[in-house]
Amino acid sequence: MMLRAENITGGYGEALVHRDISLSVDVGEILVVAGKNGCGKTTLARLLAGQNPVVSGRILRGDTDLTHQQNWQRKAQGIVYMAQTQFVFDSLSVRDNLSLAEGNEAELSGYFQLFPRLQERQDQAAGTMSGGERKILGFVATMLQSGDVYILDEPSEGVQAENIQKMQSVIQAKVDQGKAVILMEQNLSMIEALAHRVLMLGSTGLEFELKGQGITRAALLEGLRV
Ligand SMILES: Nc1ncnc2c1ncn2[C@@H]1O[C@H](COP(=O)(O)OP(=O)(O)OP(=O)(O)O)[C@@H](O)[C@H]1O
Ligand SMILES: [Mg+2]
Repeated sequence: MMLRAENITGGYGEALVHRDISLSVDVGEILVVAGKNGCGKTTLARLLAGQNPVVSGRILRGDTDLTHQQNWQRKAQGIVYMAQTQFVFDSLSVRDNLSLAEGNEAELSGYFQLFPRLQERQDQAAGTMSGGERKILGFVATMLQSGDVYILDEPSEGVQAENIQKMQSVIQAKVDQGKAVILMEQNLSMIEALAHRVLMLGSTGLEFELKGQGITRAALLEGLRV
């Protein structure tokens, strides 16, 4: 097991968004956390990544207890996180954002081939890129980081379909290398293309789980219907 959360409760100070949530992700697995706007996908990602304090319950990476570790300590344990907003340093150039990821050159050149705009815009400040371009930059900077579990909060948001498919191929390549991915998403075709399991968050917490052949558009719409 790569990462396990046992009965975690937490949110923003007094405002407890989640109570007694449990989940786990395995080697080579893509776990999708889906749900409507405001159901708590981002909050759950932040609890897992060490951005918000866990009030009760445990988060384990193998035998290591991460529950009270800060986000940078979890990073050292191989937990890599891409936030839904503020996933790049706006004032830094594209090049500097990418070099902070300390990834390997071969992987970076593969990403440049996939997303040529990033290579063309290397000297440009990240904050002057379009929303979709910034999201791609943040995604690439995240996937370049070395780690074992990648927690991605809506990487497809605002990205055009062709580039979403390219992101999918990058995520697929990571899990083919034995990494684990926890993907917060609402994009149905991305979920259908990638998910091994789907946890559906609702107003009462985790409402249901879908697996393998059970991950159908109809079942997903059941959880995402307003
Ligand atoms: N900083 C905060 N302080 C207090 N409550 C917050 C804070 N941020 C979010 N919340 C609340 O937590 C709940 C869950 O929000 P969250 O952002 O986790 O949902 P989400 O599923 O990621 O939504 P979206 O699909 O819009 O990204 C919401 O009711 C929201 O108002
Ligand atoms: Mg969110």
